[in-house]
Amino acid sequence: MEQTKNATSRGGFGSKIGFVLAAAGSAVGLGNIWRFPYLAAKYGGGIFLMIYLIFAVTFGFTLMLTEIAIGRRTGKSVIGAYRDVDKRFSFLGILAAVIPALILPYYCVIGGWVLKYMTVFTKGGGEAASVAEYAIQGSDKKLSFFEHFIGMLKEPSFFFLIFVLLTSVAVFFGVEKGIEKVSKFLMPVLLILIIGISVYTLTLKGAGNGLKYYLLPNFDGFTFSKLLRTISAACGQLFYSMSIAMGIMVTYGSYMRKEDSLESSVRQIEIFDTLVAFLAGLIIVPAVFIFSGGDSSALNAGPGLMFITLPKVFAAMPAGQIIGTAFFVLVTLAALTSSISLMETVVAVVMEKFRLSRSVSCCIVIILTLAIGMLSVLGYSSWAGFKLFGMQILDLFDFSTNNIMMPVLAFLTCILIGYAVKTKYVEEEVMFGEKQFRSRLLYNIMIKVICPVCMIMILITPFVTKL
Ligand code: PHE
Repeated sequence: MEQTKNATSRGGFGSKIGFVLAAAGSAVGLGNIWRFPYLAAKYGGGIFLMIYLIFAVTFGFTLMLTEIAIGRRTGKSVIGAYRDVDKRFSFLGILAAVIPALILPYYCVIGGWVLKYMTVFTKGGGEAASVAEYAIQGSDKKLSFFEHFIGMLKEPSFFFLIFVLLTSVAVFFGVEKGIEKVSKFLMPVLLILIIGISVYTLTLKGAGNGLKYYLLPNFDGFTFSKLLRTISAACGQLFYSMSIAMGIMVTYGSYMRKEDSLESSVRQIEIFDTLVAFLAGLIIVPAVFIFSGGDSSALNAGPGLMFITLPKVFAAMPAGQIIGTAFFVLVTLAALTSSISLMETVVAVVMEKFRLSRSVSCCIVIILTLAIGMLSVLGYSSWAGFKLFGMQILDLFDFSTNNIMMPVLAFLTCILIGYAVKTKYVEEEVMFGEKQFRSRLLYNIMIKVICPVCMIMILITPFVTKL
């Protein structure tokens, strides 16, 4: 009884579709649109797609279901939620609050870059930007539009600020009136945009070769060690793509209605997330392929793909200005719904921990985000020479959260549910109001054995491959 009262007074999603779209909004982000396509291209096309798909319905399903169930059962923000599950694991709640608080600032900095590109393309300057070069004093090296832009201080700070404020609007209005409403509008728009752009790209001359490269398994040079790296990359990508171990799904789960099916909601979120990633690949791989004359190395990993290569591809494409604009609107929407989920997770903690109102908590989180995010902005401009462990400030935030804190949190969550409180904790929540838990056996094997092993793999891979 107390649980129900608690959940109501915190507000919550008014419908299942609202919950699914908000969670999918969190899951669909830069990871789907920019990271997934180049990973698929790099790790043997169809082979990667197959492995990813298998992981999505097993590993991804298990971890997402676990987090949402913890949230819904406790009806609390991450700090209270993990404490409620098992007092000995309270520290996980702190970790789950720190992770989004560290990711949100730099994610909004990147969101600001995307916003800048959206405005450049909307104003018709995409083509000029794609070829612009800026001289560096005392050197004959030239900077691209992107490098020049992030090297400045005022402009990136301005777009960062705007992105943070846009994010906060939805969070400010609360779960049902803010996040749910925004997601119900933005997610269908995003889907229409991505389908439209992918259909257009596939009609371009020469798209077929890129399509083959993306979809067909490529066994060339596919050794056992490459297979291991592919598995690890697919696992890591999935984990990031589904917004797992960021405290987000626990928070959104705490707002979910008790009468809605957990199992089918998770399946729907998964389908949405994977579909968008797949469609993004249908756009990026063939487009870059045509532009580079079949040179797959143009699908490089870094931010250069999105901010340097793709604008060039759009510039060379018929109707590229419109397609480029639509593409950057798409990326902005995807990034926005993800940053909303990050901010909500942190705001929920501040509200609960300090018993503050939503609006005051929002203001505190905005100020914190701006302060921490400015470090990342400065890391590319005035403090460009500053490096720690060979990384720029933004990369440092990214590496420490994604490669260390998140796998640790996910691993310990598996131990908590698989061994400390036992899987009945999640099973009871899944069965609440439902007759059966169809994937129960799969769930048990995954959470006790396979997921922890995958987490250890993700955790050690970057260190092993760097040696
Ligand atoms: N799931 C997001 C993606 O695919 C990642 C993310 C979500 C990052 C939420 C931050 C916040 O890009």
